[in-house]
Amino acid sequence: MNIEGSVALVTGANRGLGKVLAEQLKAKGAKKIYAGARDPAKVAYAGVEPVKLNITSAADVSATAKALGDVNLVINNAGIAPFSSLAADASLEVARTAMETNYFGTLRVANAFAPILAKNGGGALVNMLSVLSWITYPSLAAYCASKSAAWALTNALRHELKEQGTLVIGVHAGLIDTDMAAGVEAPKVSPEQVAAAILEAVASGREEVLSDEPSRQIKAALSAQPGPYL
Ligand SMILES: NC(=O)c1ccc[n+]([C@@H]2O[C@H](COP(=O)([O-])OP(=O)(O)OC[C@H]3O[C@@H](n4cnc5c(N)ncnc54)[C@H](OP(=O)(O)O)[C@@H]3O)[C@@H](O)[C@H]2O)c1
Repeated sequence: MNIEGSVALVTGANRGLGKVLAEQLKAKGAKKIYAGARDPAKVAYAGVEPVKLNITSAADVSATAKALGDVNLVINNAGIAPFSSLAADASLEVARTAMETNYFGTLRVANAFAPILAKNGGGALVNMLSVLSWITYPSLAAYCASKSAAWALTNALRHELKEQGTLVIGVHAGLIDTDMAAGVEAPKVSPEQVAAAILEAVASGREEVLSDEPSRQIKAALSAQPGPYL
């Protein structure tokens, strides 16, 4: 679909990858960009319309869908990555919190905006996943499970929304240089590179984004014998 002239909603757009996505959408000529944020006062950059949107809140999502009937590109970017061992006392709570945001929140937004995308010609729905949709990192098990679930959801949505002409894109990335990965010392891809790969896929109609070398290598290795992380 054409990014120029599009009307986009980006969740979690106050910082990190979401902010860079909104800025790149603007640079590529999107007509309107709704910057979803739990606290819209934290959307501290120009050229977008801040919108109060906590994706775990059914009331927020339904109010947003009622108000933003002109959207034809939805980017489900908001996410959390709580570190916790499965053996920790709080592991059930941490797992539920991760699922509530990364899986149910993503589903809630997709569900509310699918009819709007249909009405506006199909458009595109982008779900921000991870290499950890495919492999498990022990201290991030709750995150990995929630991103695996979001990957399955993305694939199901692709089938369901095909008839209405909606392009559904799953994005896999390794470590991105944002607050989320700030505590991890390892090579990281820039949010600018990931955002550019996402918008290129939207423009060219590609259903999967492997935004960096780790995501390409890990996907290629998935049929290997299971190791400790598979
Ligand atoms: N960074 C990485 O290494 C990495 C790698 C692969 C995939 N990803 C994925 O990329 C996406 C963007 O992450 P990031 O790196 O930009 O992380 P980030 O810098 O931590 O930003 C996360 C964004 O999501 C928002 N958010 C969290 N929970 C929300 C909720 N319930 N409702 C609405 N917004 C919420 C945050 O808002 P607040 O400011 O209110 O907290 C923030 O705007 C996430 O889906 C993440 O899982 C990240």
